Amino acid sequence: MHKIVGLDIGSYAIKAVELNLTKAGFELSQFHVIPSPISALESDISELTALSESLSQLFTTNKLATTVVTTIPDKILFSYVLELPRMTEKELSKSLEFELAQYIPMPLSEVSVAHQILDISDSTKPDTMEVSVVAVPKTVVSKYIKLIENSSLAVTAVENQITSALRCLTDPQIQLPTTMFLCLGASGTDFSIVHQSSVRFTRSITIGGHVMTRAVAEKIGFEEALAEEYKRTYGLLPLPQEGKVRVALVPPTEALITEVRRAQTFYNTRYAPDSIKRIMLFGGGASMPGLVEYLATSLEMEVEVGHLSGSLTFSKEMLDREAQFKSLMPILSVSLGLAMRPM
Ligand SMILES: Nc1ncnc2c1ncn2[C@@H]1O[C@H](COP(=O)(O)OP(=O)(O)OP(=O)(O)O)[C@@H](O)[C@H]1O
Ligand SMILES: [Mg+2]
Repeated sequence: MHKIVGLDIGSYAIKAVELNLTKAGFELSQFHVIPSPISALESDISELTALSESLSQLFTTNKLATTVVTTIPDKILFSYVLELPRMTEKELSKSLEFELAQYIPMPLSEVSVAHQILDISDSTKPDTMEVSVVAVPKTVVSKYIKLIENSSLAVTAVENQITSALRCLTDPQIQLPTTMFLCLGASGTDFSIVHQSSVRFTRSITIGGHVMTRAVAEKIGFEEALAEEYKRTYGLLPLPQEGKVRVALVPPTEALITEVRRAQTFYNTRYAPDSIKRIMLFGGGASMPGLVEYLATSLEMEVEVGHLSGSLTFSKEMLDREAQFKSLMPILSVSLGLAMRPM
C-alpha cells in the first residue's frame, strides 16, 4: 500500500494528513495539527532549525510516511490574471515574457512560472483572453524543499493552497456556482475567486487570526492566550454579557468585508455582474463563532464553511475520529488536498 503525507506548514499550526492510496481510493490513516514554531517562513535560521526539529519529531513519533506533498503560502507567490489580446499559445509565450517583466520585481530567470489560459466565455470583453500566471522565486522553493528535506523527508511536489483545498472542498462532478473562497489563516486571509474550477482572481491581505486575537487582547486588556480562548469561544456572537469580544472583533471583520467588496467589484466589472453566488470559508479562522452569520448579513450572500466533499474512507484506527476529522476540515483542507494530489 502506498502512503503519502500532505504537509501544510502554517505560521500558527503545522498540519499533516496521511493517506493510504488504495485501489478503491483514498483512505485516511493519520492526521495531526501541532503548534508551529515559526512566525513566518522568511525568518532567521534559528527558527528554521526549530521547524526542522518539529517536523522530525512529528514524523518520527507518529511513524508518518516520509513522502510528502507540500505547499507554499499564497503571500509569497506572485499571482496574476492578465488580460491580453487574443493570440496563439506560441505568441503567448513571447508576450508573457514581456508582460511579466513589468509585474515581477525580479529577473524572470530567477522565478518559476506556470500559466493557464482561462475560459472567459462570460467576459464583458470578448476580443481579449485571460491568462492566469503563478510565479515563485526559485530560491524560495529550494529553501522550502531543503528545509523539509533536512528532516529526512522527500518532497514530491509543491503547490499553491487553493488548488489543494479545492480538491477536497468541491466535487468535480458538480458544477460549482462562482465562489469566493476565503482562507482565514493566522497571518492573513487569502482570497480566490473560482469559476468552473479555474481560479480567476487571487489576493492576500494581512487581516487574519492573529490580528483578530490582538484586537481582543488590546480591547479587553487580556494576555494573548486568554484573548485567543475568548475569540474561539464567543467570536462575533452577539451575547449581551460577552459583547466586548464581539465589539473588539468587529473592526478587523469590517476591514475584511471591505476587501471582499473590493474583490467583488473588480470581478463584476470584468465578468457578468452579480456573478459571485457564494462565499466559502476555510482555514482556522473559518470556525470563529458568529462569523458566517456576520458575513452573510453584511454581504447579503450565501456564506458557508467548507466541508469534506468527495470520497474518503477511514482506516480502522481512524474510525472513531471521523467526526473530529470532519470538524477540523476547515483547518485540514489544504493538507488533505495536498495528499490527494494526482501523482
Ligand atoms: N474555533 C476558532 N475560532 C476562531 N479562530 C480560530 C479557531 N480555530 C483556529 N482559529 C484561528 O485560526 C488560525 C490558525 O489557522 P490555520 O492553521 O489555518 O493558520 P496557519 O495556516 O497556521 O496560518 P498562515 O497560513 O496564515 O501562516 C489562528 O489564528 C487561530 O486563532
Ligand atoms: Mg495556512
